[in-house]
Amino acid sequence: MTLQEILGIDAPIIQAPMAGVQGSALAAAVSDAGGLGSLPCALLGVDDMRRELAEIRAKTGGPFNVNFFCHAPPAPSAEREAAWRAALAPYFAEFGVDPEAIPAGPGRAPFGHEAADVLEEFRPPVVSFHFGLPSADLLARVRGWGAKVLSSATTVEEALWLEAHGADAVIAQGLEAGGHRGMFLSKNPSKDLSTQVGTFALVPQVARAVKVPVIAAGGIADARGIAAALALGAAGVQVGTAFLLCPEASTSAVHREALKSEAARVTAVTNLFTGRPARSIVNRIIRELGPLSAAAPAFPLATPAVTALRARAESRGSGDFSPPVGRAERGRMPGSAGGGSHPGVGRRPVIVAFFR
Ligand SMILES: Cc1cc2nc3c(=O)[nH]c(=O)nc-3n(C[C@H](O)[C@H](O)[C@H](O)COP(=O)(O)O)c2cc1C
Repeated sequence: MTLQEILGIDAPIIQAPMAGVQGSALAAAVSDAGGLGSLPCALLGVDDMRRELAEIRAKTGGPFNVNFFCHAPPAPSAEREAAWRAALAPYFAEFGVDPEAIPAGPGRAPFGHEAADVLEEFRPPVVSFHFGLPSADLLARVRGWGAKVLSSATTVEEALWLEAHGADAVIAQGLEAGGHRGMFLSKNPSKDLSTQVGTFALVPQVARAVKVPVIAAGGIADARGIAAALALGAAGVQVGTAFLLCPEASTSAVHREALKSEAARVTAVTNLFTGRPARSIVNRIIRELGPLSAAAPAFPLATPAVTALRARAESRGSGDFSPPVGRAERGRMPGSAGGGSHPGVGRRPVIVAFFR
């Protein structure tokens, strides 16, 4: 079976789920255009999840993907939290953020039975995970309505593990990718970062090792990138950063400006935003504290303190603390994921634009 047959899509293009910068609008536009739109749920509570799923169903009859993190929550450490807040103290003072008002705690939960209850109401045809797969009972629930399961691998070992544990296709995520590395077999992702390879080194290795279809992710932003991925053995691609400037994305104004600026030429993998390595435009906090800091608490415990700073900084027009993006080629971002912005290419502008 081809990837298109497995996922029920026309073009082998998956819009990468990107928590915090997009929701149902982008997902529905891509699904409606013949690709696979994705709804990231890592930051959504059950009510928001239900509302967003209803929106997608109302906007498109196409298949779509719903995405979750499935990390093992770390034990909180008061000592590390104090060290982290001490490292950020000068910024709290500069931006007028009261550290006492910032809640300690995870800020994001892994996939669990509450989320599965909501999914059961909507029975999405595809469910994808980052950081491995959930427990066998949760996975069985997802499979219960026939959903296809995808997850990211950053090494051949992770790809083999995902195949052995029931993934229907494996996303080979290279070092170029925006957002978090999907590393899950490493006990210390920040430390093991040097084991990561780029997309076009990883894809052929993974394609040789597994029997399930391989989806290439990381740094792919146009037809040439897609052609290269397919030539190396991928059955499709998952594209993230290239969608960030679409009107259907909820990317903030500050983030959009950064993406269009010269600053977007330089990105780095940093653990400062959440505690896990993720690729970001190099901004002030990365220059001054990172990119990798031993003070950052384990994922996702580093998140709330930086999120408070980011909100305050962005309200002042500053991207000093703004979140991850990838390294996809600038200037090749589609104007719209849906229709209309690429005259002459019909109702499938993104898909067609990517294949040009
Ligand atoms: C801003 C941003 C947020 C992301 N959030 C998620 C997420 O919530 N879940 C997930 O599985 N992947 C997430 N990713 C990673 C993507 O799935 C994918 O691996 C990556 O975007 C591919 O690289 P590219 O951005 O160069 O296209 C995110 C990527 C970006 C850029």
